[in-house]
Amino acid sequence: MMLSFEDTPFSPAPKRADIVQQPATTGEPVAASASLQRVRAEDKRVINGLADVNQLVPFKYKWAWEKYLAGCANHWMPQEINMSRDIAQWKDPTALTEDERRIVRRNLGFFTTADSLAANNIVLGTYRHITAPECRQYLLRQAFEEAIHTHAYQYIVESLGLDEGEVFNAYHEVSSIREKDEFLIPFIETLTDPAFRTGTHENDQKLLKSLIVFACIMEGLFFYVGFVQILALGRQNKMTGAAEQYQYILRDESMHCNFGIDLINTIKLENPQLWTQEFREDIRALMRKGVELEYRYAEDTMPRGVLGLNAAMFKEYLRFVANRRCQQIGLDELYENAGNPFPWMSEMIDLKKEKNFFETRVTEYQTGGALSWD
Ligand SMILES: [Fe+2]
Ligand SMILES: [Fe+2]
Repeated sequence: MMLSFEDTPFSPAPKRADIVQQPATTGEPVAASASLQRVRAEDKRVINGLADVNQLVPFKYKWAWEKYLAGCANHWMPQEINMSRDIAQWKDPTALTEDERRIVRRNLGFFTTADSLAANNIVLGTYRHITAPECRQYLLRQAFEEAIHTHAYQYIVESLGLDEGEVFNAYHEVSSIREKDEFLIPFIETLTDPAFRTGTHENDQKLLKSLIVFACIMEGLFFYVGFVQILALGRQNKMTGAAEQYQYILRDESMHCNFGIDLINTIKLENPQLWTQEFREDIRALMRKGVELEYRYAEDTMPRGVLGLNAAMFKEYLRFVANRRCQQIGLDELYENAGNPFPWMSEMIDLKKEKNFFETRVTEYQTGGALSWD
């Protein structure tokens, strides 16, 4: 693997004599007042760093700062999108089939709570354990974007006059949704447990595993059946307001996923001892489990073919996406010859063009303006 770190030379661990000592057991970053030393970029670490987290510069992790800027450039708000056509279609008994309505309800059932889980995972979990201020800056932006996504789903539910109790409780009451959340929750709880600290081999592996589950399986896989379904509705001129919101959300989530992958790959570079054979096998097994759960969700949301889509196409698609996630974090592909049955999804957000720092330095998304929708 060729890596380019022109402005971020990879350097050995900081000499402890250069920085203020802290009890190794706390894992807490050194407070500003605790150190009179000026921060040097080479002393920064993504986890278990000892440099002052309150000093954003000097930059070391420019990829994180660039994603923060790109996220801000992509800013949008749900209420900017006109929902009147969606409302008229939802009320018109002939505009949508029962299967199409099921897709909309299930989608909102999953996503209304998923983005709250994502936000809590960042704010109460991940953020505490990441000691690079550039990465923390991105996580703050990401947390706000998750709030915007929850807002968007709520706005759709409210616009359509859906049963809020049914939608917001789907993650308890609909088994294909509950199973996905039950898979995620132990990994989220690792990070949000107030007693959890990094700094040991075992805990650093736990952190890395949770970050991989969050970026590559939750944001990078569990969102994709839902995205394809709503965007497929939009392509047939149905629920175009909801579809436009999902398109903005997909753009944000692609960035979240790529940030997560850069974070994971940087932790791997700085802590190569964590990436053991056993650990890699664990991750591959989790990815397989994720594909299984998301496929079950696809079957449940589409008991029959709808919109030219069927569950079998999703089996192939999920394998294709899972292979891509494995490749992005340096694992062998899980499935042979998995193709992409939805090339039009690639036009919206091309999985091949979904770049991250480790593949290119180009930032893909710089326009905050209107999306083209044809
Ligand atoms: Fe989100
Ligand atoms: Fe996200």
